[in-house]
Amino acid sequence: FNVLKQLVYKHPNRAPVVFHFFPWIGSAVVYGMKPYEFFNENREKYGDVFAFVLLGRVMTVCLGPKGHEFVFNSKLQDVSAEEAYSHLTTPVFGEGVVYDCPNHRLMEQKKFAKTALSKDAFISYVPKIVEEIKNYFKTSPYYYNNDSKKLSGQVSVVESQSQITIFTASRTLLGDEVRQKLNTDFAQLYSDLDKGFTPINFVFPHLPLPIYWKRDAAQQKISSTYMEVISKRRQEGNVDPTQDLIGSLMVNATYKDGVRMTDQHIANLLIGILMGGQHTSASTSAWALLHLGCRPDLIEALYEEQVKVSGKNGHELNPLTYDSLQEMPLLTNTIKETLRLHSPLHSIFRKVMNPLPVPNTNYIVPRGHYVLVSPGVTMMSDDYFKNASHFEPRRWEDPNSVPGATGAKDDSIDYGFGAVSKGVSSPYLPFGGGRHRCIGEQFAYVQLGTILATFIREFKWVTVNGKVPEVDFESMVTLPKSPALIQWVKRDYSN
Ligand code: HEM
Repeated sequence: FNVLKQLVYKHPNRAPVVFHFFPWIGSAVVYGMKPYEFFNENREKYGDVFAFVLLGRVMTVCLGPKGHEFVFNSKLQDVSAEEAYSHLTTPVFGEGVVYDCPNHRLMEQKKFAKTALSKDAFISYVPKIVEEIKNYFKTSPYYYNNDSKKLSGQVSVVESQSQITIFTASRTLLGDEVRQKLNTDFAQLYSDLDKGFTPINFVFPHLPLPIYWKRDAAQQKISSTYMEVISKRRQEGNVDPTQDLIGSLMVNATYKDGVRMTDQHIANLLIGILMGGQHTSASTSAWALLHLGCRPDLIEALYEEQVKVSGKNGHELNPLTYDSLQEMPLLTNTIKETLRLHSPLHSIFRKVMNPLPVPNTNYIVPRGHYVLVSPGVTMMSDDYFKNASHFEPRRWEDPNSVPGATGAKDDSIDYGFGAVSKGVSSPYLPFGGGRHRCIGEQFAYVQLGTILATFIREFKWVTVNGKVPEVDFESMVTLPKSPALIQWVKRDYSN
């Protein structure tokens, strides 16, 4: 009956629905395994706007820059991110924050984080990130340590970059107290919480499964620990908004109507913001290392850039600083190019709250359906980027070669603090656009730039089979398929 209905009946004002055999399940399997192939095949059949059934939901896909503009700039009363995401996020972040509160509260919560994501804060973060990575190299079994002076080895970048991201983000955004706890059993709680942050939550957020019990216990213990840190700092009169995110929230977190965020809500927001940066940055640095592992020419050019900008003191390069990172265009363009080919989020959703006409079509998306935008499709399309599938950071040296593309240095970025941000019709939007735009873009560039520069200074490397691995679409972000190994050798500073 479902098949017949699809063949015979076409709603006049609805986007064409991708054919599927099983009602409710719809296109879940093809979409879930290879979303970009699914989008591109159906784009060829139907154009930039089409719909598909995903586990009982109807998703209207809006591709291309016009799709970006339509979804990211839709009015608050018409589309809702909280209705689309809260199943997934509230059990993990906790209550009262991000998508478990009205949107105007989220807009203010994003502003409260601003001081910790400012230039002054970044200046103090860079040496801390360098220290964390070097310590990781010393203690991780994958890398050398001072005793054995291991000079070469193999490492799975999926594992190493996830750990490096947790350590560097915790040290900078959460401060020394929380970072020290990661050397204890506390680290297991992060892993328990993380395992409960999976795409299954979209459908079954509260199944009676051990992973969910562990997730809930971890959420409680982690948030209590953050609350203890907050009250200890308060007792000690240590309240500095530029110190880290905890300081920033302790000082700034009073809503415009005078309501103060409770410590529980601050703790939950800390979890939410850290989670926003964890998988996204970890996957980006893993992909960057893998692409560079196939391009020894770029590794050497990046090393030359380090030498040119930082200069040498004897055999050693001078320490990396925030200011020096700003003078390293090849490094910045390597991150930008990695994000073009590997946008960590392949799909961004909103639930439609009022019948929503799609511009330049006669389609109306009904209330209760979803709209889905995928900037990754556009970023990997030859229509917008010459030789799009090729990893070439130098393409960004000529900004005119990529019309309308915005990046880290774009002044039009307003973090989504305003009603709408500019630039939402750009073909290049790895950080989204509009009111839900990422607040972590600049931090991500500082963190990723410091991580990559430190790798470049310490090692040379190649991917183990000479190829960049395929994409694993089954987790929350677009990760390289494990084991994703690189073979590294320590740089020889004596020449
Ligand atoms: C939102 C990507 C790093 C915190 C977003 C969105 C995207 C994105 C696409 C928009 C989601 C939507 O519209 O539904 C990325 C990428 C990153 C990154 C590619 C790194 C390479 C970070 C970091 C942080 C962070 C480091 C925290 C320090 C957030 C927050 C939001 C957000 C709080 C706002 C959610 C909202 O308003 O609904 N990010 N992100 N992100 N991101 Fe990031």
